Amino acid sequence: MKLCMIGTGYVGLVSGVCFSDLGNDVICVDKDIKKIEKLKKGKVPIYEPGLSELVNKNYKNKRLSFSSDLKKSVKESDIIFICVGTPTKKGSSKADLSQIFNVAKEISSSINKFKIIITKSTVPVTTGDEIEKIFLKKNNKKKFSIISNPEFLREGEAIRDFIYPDRIVIGTNDKKSNKILKNLYSPLISKGASYLTTSRRAAELIKYASNAFLATKITFINEIANLCEKTGINIEDISIGMGLDKRIGSRFLRAGPAYGGSCFPKDTKAITSTADKFAINLSVIKSVIKSNKNRSNLLLNKVYEILNKKIKNRKITFLGVTFKANTDDMRDSSSLTMIPALSKKGAIIKYYDPTGFKKEFSKIKNVYNSNSIKQSLEGSDLVIIHTEWNDFKSINFKNLLKGKKCIIYDMRNIYSPKKIIDQGFKYYSIGR
Ligand code: UGA
Repeated sequence: MKLCMIGTGYVGLVSGVCFSDLGNDVICVDKDIKKIEKLKKGKVPIYEPGLSELVNKNYKNKRLSFSSDLKKSVKESDIIFICVGTPTKKGSSKADLSQIFNVAKEISSSINKFKIIITKSTVPVTTGDEIEKIFLKKNNKKKFSIISNPEFLREGEAIRDFIYPDRIVIGTNDKKSNKILKNLYSPLISKGASYLTTSRRAAELIKYASNAFLATKITFINEIANLCEKTGINIEDISIGMGLDKRIGSRFLRAGPAYGGSCFPKDTKAITSTADKFAINLSVIKSVIKSNKNRSNLLLNKVYEILNKKIKNRKITFLGVTFKANTDDMRDSSSLTMIPALSKKGAIIKYYDPTGFKKEFSKIKNVYNSNSIKQSLEGSDLVIIHTEWNDFKSINFKNLLKGKKCIIYDMRNIYSPKKIIDQGFKYYSIGR
């Protein structure tokens, strides 16, 4: 079986490389010729731990190849995975499916024998039906099977998540194709992954409902953290106490800044917008979106309070600016709201991120990239720990700040308050 991954973003590249590492022949396709040329030279366009090594290993073994020729790659393959982006449509909450439908049209005109066509991208329920219509216009029904197989990997943990998923969801009623896919995924099933076959529409919705539920969990604990701050309770105790209930579970109960990234913000919007289309009001998810939007302002107000509302010319350091650790992804990071707002109020901001300079801040007044933690802390009045990188977990603030009285606002609850206060610093964190 030869596999073809269309789109070399997080989902397409990671899945393609991992499938090749499991012994399959995989061709990764992207219309971005420069990206493909770089990949052929072993240069990976995204920061993802372990990915570069896996790309190079499998490319050398010739199980993995790269191409910008979609038609040729489709003709040579048996299973085609659509892994292109589904961002939010400009000026609306809907998912922009133009890349999905363009690719579907191209694939449908390149079919020379039976192919399994799989949507791995996150797509609203009934998108598979629309793709099928595109194919029916061009081909006879026996030549293809349109299946939904959503991907649940996280950025920063992508390879591990792909190889050890909790579940593999296959949305199809085509028994023959399902058998082929079960065989393709058998190395992961034998490692403990559950294999679930559902209707195509159910598989599409499982992905959105999962992301929306996780976003709800985070937003819920963030709001409880607000209450903890007012009542002198430690949010960590609440997360542990709640998480020990097996019905709730302990993961995704870490309070912090507004959730961000390329998925939760867009997917929560898209699912409510799809439901609206069917006259269903997903009011819980709508509240989550609203609460998360307010969260950056809430934390900003706390910053103003910490600095006694005197922001002009105050030196603020951001440790980490990406939406979470182990990624260089800035999409919907709360730093994109907080840094410009503080700059507007006259603060002088230095940031250090292990993944380096961020073009998003290059045009913002008085915002400077630092090349080290040490450099970023020099002369700082307030240090904001924004992202939970391991690099920030054992900073010797006393040494680096050289006796300067500085305030630390730990938005990821990395440090024990006592440890920092004992070093003579004012310390604030989330929900404690
Ligand atoms: C998310 C899902 O976790 C994946 O299962 C899914 O496949 C992916 O979206 C997608 O749709 O492609 P990802 O966006 O990489 O993955 O990031 P997460 O690790 O889920 O984090 C999302 C946001 O939630 C981050 O801003 C993170 O800091 C925040 N978060 C997460 C918390 O604030 N608290 C937590 O306890 C967990």
